[in-house]
Amino acid sequence: MGKRKGLAVIWMLCISMVLCSGCRRERKGQEIESIRIGVTVYDQYDTFVSQLMESFKIYARKKTGETGIAINIDVYNASASQSTQNAQVEEMLENGCDVICVNLVDRTDPTTIIDMAENDNVPVIFFNRELVAEDLERWNQLYYVGAKAFESGIMEGEIAADAFKKDPAADKNGDGIFQYMILEGEAGHQDSIVRTEYSVSTITDNGIEVEKLGYAIANWNRAQAQTKTAQMLNEYGEKIELILANNDDMALGAIDALKAAEIDPQDWPVIVGIDGTDVGLEAVKNGEMAGTVYNDKEGQARGMLDLAYALATEGDTSVLNLEDGKYIRLPYQKILSEDVYRYLK
Ligand code: BGC
Repeated sequence: MGKRKGLAVIWMLCISMVLCSGCRRERKGQEIESIRIGVTVYDQYDTFVSQLMESFKIYARKKTGETGIAINIDVYNASASQSTQNAQVEEMLENGCDVICVNLVDRTDPTTIIDMAENDNVPVIFFNRELVAEDLERWNQLYYVGAKAFESGIMEGEIAADAFKKDPAADKNGDGIFQYMILEGEAGHQDSIVRTEYSVSTITDNGIEVEKLGYAIANWNRAQAQTKTAQMLNEYGEKIELILANNDDMALGAIDALKAAEIDPQDWPVIVGIDGTDVGLEAVKNGEMAGTVYNDKEGQARGMLDLAYALATEGDTSVLNLEDGKYIRLPYQKILSEDVYRYLK
């Protein structure tokens, strides 16, 4: 190569290095001033989801403080309609959101959202309402943030089994069998299915015989749980020794029914919930619930924020230790009255 040609090649290399380091710096987020995250929740009145969103906003403010990058969050309420949610995602894409977080209304129907996001090359983080693994595999920019559902069922069953073993009064008729009713979340929700199955099987795995008196689907909802429990109280009354609820709001609905029926708290069945929401923790603290299982909304909110931030700034997601490159799943924790102070704000 002649001297001149050699110099020209070096010159070209220098220019391309400057250009590349320029774009790399920008990709790493250093020169990005703000990002926009769109979030759509299946129902803004869901206690657990609304508390998760509060934490999400708190972490976003913290992150802005740490990084100097403004994080704009647009939150939409899908009001339990999948078509409304699809339209919201379309709007978020039009508005230039860098990442979209979706709390699916119908966890079996993510196709429209996935197709729209892939078309615009905007990553999607699904959360709390888990889509099937095959759907999450459909594009490499789809993620899920949630919890290990089966753990919550096991822990709820352990709390119930311990209550039965420790307090002879829990077995009201003294027949050695735990007569129970169960309040279930939405049919088809991964947490309803898994919690119902594992809570009961854990009690029997602990050597306690159970008898199912009844079950009701109360869709995670306190008022519905109150109505359904009132019906079961009419039917089974004193026979109910245990109320297993798929979440705290439904456990609280059961408590509302017991109070409305003016049943002496001494005669209440053992009641166990899941979530550790503020109201749930209060009920554990005052002894109305035997315990609950902490569904780590703070951890999930932080995981979702960190992931959204990394994706929006084209940062490195490898530090987040994603399971299979796609999942963040937080563990659950048991909360009994002696632990409740650690969780109360
Ligand atoms: C929570 C419920 C909540 C539901 C909404 C579950 O993980 O335990 O309280 O209603 O998610 O999808």
